[in-house]
Amino acid sequence: MFLLLISLGPIPIQGDVEFNNVLCLVRDRKFMDFEYCYLKSVNRTYKYLSVKTKFHHFPIDNGEVRFQLTRRENGRVLYKFDFKVDACKFLRDRQNVVANLAFQTFEHYSNMNHTCPYDHDIIVDKLPVQHVNGVVQAIIPDGRYLSNSTFRVGGIPRLDILVYFSKS
Ligand SMILES: *[C@@H]1O[C@H](CO)[C@@H](O)[C@H](O)[C@H]1NC(C)=O
Ligand SMILES: *[C@@H]1O[C@H](CO)[C@@H](O)[C@H](O)[C@H]1NC(C)=O
Ligand SMILES: *[C@@H]1O[C@H](CO)[C@@H](O)[C@H](O)[C@H]1NC(C)=O
Repeated sequence: MFLLLISLGPIPIQGDVEFNNVLCLVRDRKFMDFEYCYLKSVNRTYKYLSVKTKFHHFPIDNGEVRFQLTRRENGRVLYKFDFKVDACKFLRDRQNVVANLAFQTFEHYSNMNHTCPYDHDIIVDKLPVQHVNGVVQAIIPDGRYLSNSTFRVGGIPRLDILVYFSKS
């Protein structure tokens, strides 16, 4: 947590976070697909994210997540945070603070709350954007962002989850 705050700069007091778009991109349709991946606005205060994978190969017993957070303005990159984690090791020991912070935002809305191997599809069910906002508000300065999470299995990139959001 401490390291993350240092690397991300000053702590803003308040702000509005707007999730503009979420894209789930499959790199290899022989390996997997998505059954769904969408952001839904119920009303002004309640917006949620739902994702379900459709893997064609089980079990999944290894994985790496590369998380890149980029802030851009007029085509210029103002800030970039780039971070990798061994997913199965993390699920076992929960030792990585940055991964833990990210994981805590959705673990209670997903069926990922166990160690490897995975022999079922992954579901994130109605994760309230509000819930993620709390974390985002606390740690990043105002701006327009792209968060890009790339998942590798067997050393091969299989999917990217892109989240476009802004904080003002
Ligand atoms: C938004 O929708 C949720 C879920 O249906 C509901 O609980 C909440 O009261 C609604 N908020 C407003 C401001 O209408
Ligand atoms: C899974 O979630 C439950 C309840 O939310 C929690 O008590 C348990 O420690 C979690 N398991 C793991 C492996 O994190
Ligand atoms: C997301 O990250 C991956 C891996 O670094 C990269 O190949 C891909 O082009 C990135 N996507 C975007 C939209 O930046």
